[in-house]
Amino acid sequence: MTTRLRAHFPVLEGCVYLNSNSTGAVPRATEAVLGRYWQTLCAWRDDVWEGWLSELQSYADAVAAFIGGPPGSVVTDANVSTLLGRIASCFDYRPPRNRIVTTHLEFPTVPFIWRAFGRYGAELDVVSRGGPGFDEDALQRRIDERTLLVCVPHASYATGAMIDLPRLVKRAHDVGALVVVDAFQTIGTVPFDVAALDVDFALGGAHKWMCGVGTAFLYVRPQLLPTLRPAATGWLAGDNPLTFLPATGWAEDARRFAGGTPFPLTALISRVGLDLLAGVGIDAIREHSLRCTERILLRADAAGIRVLSPTTPEHRGGVVCLDIPDGEAVKRRLAARRMICSWRGGLRVAPHIYNTLDEIDAFMDTLEQELEQIGR
Ligand SMILES: Cc1ncc(COP(=O)(O)O)c(C=O)c1O
Repeated sequence: MTTRLRAHFPVLEGCVYLNSNSTGAVPRATEAVLGRYWQTLCAWRDDVWEGWLSELQSYADAVAAFIGGPPGSVVTDANVSTLLGRIASCFDYRPPRNRIVTTHLEFPTVPFIWRAFGRYGAELDVVSRGGPGFDEDALQRRIDERTLLVCVPHASYATGAMIDLPRLVKRAHDVGALVVVDAFQTIGTVPFDVAALDVDFALGGAHKWMCGVGTAFLYVRPQLLPTLRPAATGWLAGDNPLTFLPATGWAEDARRFAGGTPFPLTALISRVGLDLLAGVGIDAIREHSLRCTERILLRADAAGIRVLSPTTPEHRGGVVCLDIPDGEAVKRRLAARRMICSWRGGLRVAPHIYNTLDEIDAFMDTLEQELEQIGR
């Protein structure tokens, strides 16, 4: 399967690409989409928008299907930050239920946005014991009747550690809080089923594990939609945007979380990768991912390299983070030798469905040579 898939990804021809939790590989069929887009611009007519809007909706519905949601439960926009801001703008933060419980392992945009909503009364409670993992018991204790939202990542961008979502969602719902999951680091490589998990909001994006470019998405639990009216909004969220008259109400589906005129190209491009992944199936992707991350763990252990990520399969996401002295410089030296990974306080090695075990061995061989050279 991997051999057949590799032919779709040009970036693999020039390097060992283990960077999918930063920027995933993009399939070559994307070029035809770009060509079509350019042809559209060359022969511009305003009614092109009809086709674009329906392709955008079709992409959103395909994302929904990929994560177990019904049509109309997903909306797209440029990035996760924009969509999280829209979620935040739905609430009035009146005490006593004005707390946002989150963790120390959020991508920096998450605490930044919640602190900004402090001016409207949001009170941020960051559950942290430091270190690479989540303090799940402390999370259980800190979620209570004062909690409006629990906002957590499915997996940490820095360490790959995964949170126990069923346990967390149960506790949150038991006390009447809603759950927002930033699943950018898992959707596309770890099974994530919004219905089975019963999450209220899920955020993700195309350009890491989803083999796409420049678009993000938000799932909203359909039963919640009628109760939510984002203040950060735009004309496309209205009930009848294409009349170009002032809206009289909100779109019934997740489009009520839209903003202004979208940039359709990124969704058109990202559809190519999404269809490819959906064709493989998330269970097969996860199985391959676990085989690859297991190989990294074995090699790290043999080389005496400390691993920052959880090692048990049920707790690790798609990435293995290695504790490497002067790691950022090592990352650059590896890149000079065509071994591509990323650095966020640890060396993040992120294989996907298009990587082979031989590539992982080649990467780990090169890393060991580099570490030897710097006398580690
Ligand atoms: C967990 C997580 N959330 C969010 C983001 C990015 O957010 P945005 O789409 O707003 O740039 C990243 C990485 O870029 C991430 O790893």
